[in-house]
Amino acid sequence: MDGTPATGHGPRPVRRRATESNPPRYWPRLVNCQLRGFADVDQIPFNKPFIAGKELHYVAQAVTFGNLGGDGRFTKQCCRVLEDRFGINEVLLVPSCTAALEMAAMLLDLKPGDEVILPSYTFVSTANCVVRMGVKPIFVDIRPDTLNIDDALIEEAITERTRAIFPVHYAGVACEMDRIMTIAEKYGLRVVEDAAAGCQLVLQRPRPRFDRSARLLQLP
Ligand SMILES: Cc1ncc(COP(=O)(O)O)c(C=O)c1O
Repeated sequence: MDGTPATGHGPRPVRRRATESNPPRYWPRLVNCQLRGFADVDQIPFNKPFIAGKELHYVAQAVTFGNLGGDGRFTKQCCRVLEDRFGINEVLLVPSCTAALEMAAMLLDLKPGDEVILPSYTFVSTANCVVRMGVKPIFVDIRPDTLNIDDALIEEAITERTRAIFPVHYAGVACEMDRIMTIAEKYGLRVVEDAAAGCQLVLQRPRPRFDRSARLLQLP
């Protein structure tokens, strides 16, 4: 016995502590961290439920109130918090970003044969929300520095059937919204921002995704 756990997959690989000269394997997942503490971060677990405060207490309260169907006390409270934080007149809370994207696509009154522009790298819901209406997604390549839609390539993807642009703020990094809004205005296009991974995001320059000195904002 050498102390190696019997996993059936051979000896466990030795995990070296991540340092600046030995960056972790899952580097792209780290972009949501405040990387000042870079050396302390090995890996961010995917989909791990984090408990930051009284979440479980509030879940218990919601069960006690007997309202788990939405639009209850906590939904209203959450909407007010988001309205205050973002200076929005009225927030509508929906169960998922997929639901929000589908509602937005329906509100645009898109018709089969219409086209919308979106990044070639995103979660499937960004495309599905329009494909389900018979609308054609036009995928525009992404920028190597931010991995978001390349704003310099949007104009050449616009045709007379284009109705909207769906920029995606991927993994906590903002798109070039000034430029995108200018293009949208020029061609009379609607813009739907997919901020599933970009809530609380602010656009800061310079903010290349892989620059360790950039300040990257944590998701809620
Ligand atoms: C960019 C993007 N858009 C949309 C979604 C869909 O979000 P939800 O799982 O809340 O429906 C995700 C989910 O990961 C996403 O990453």
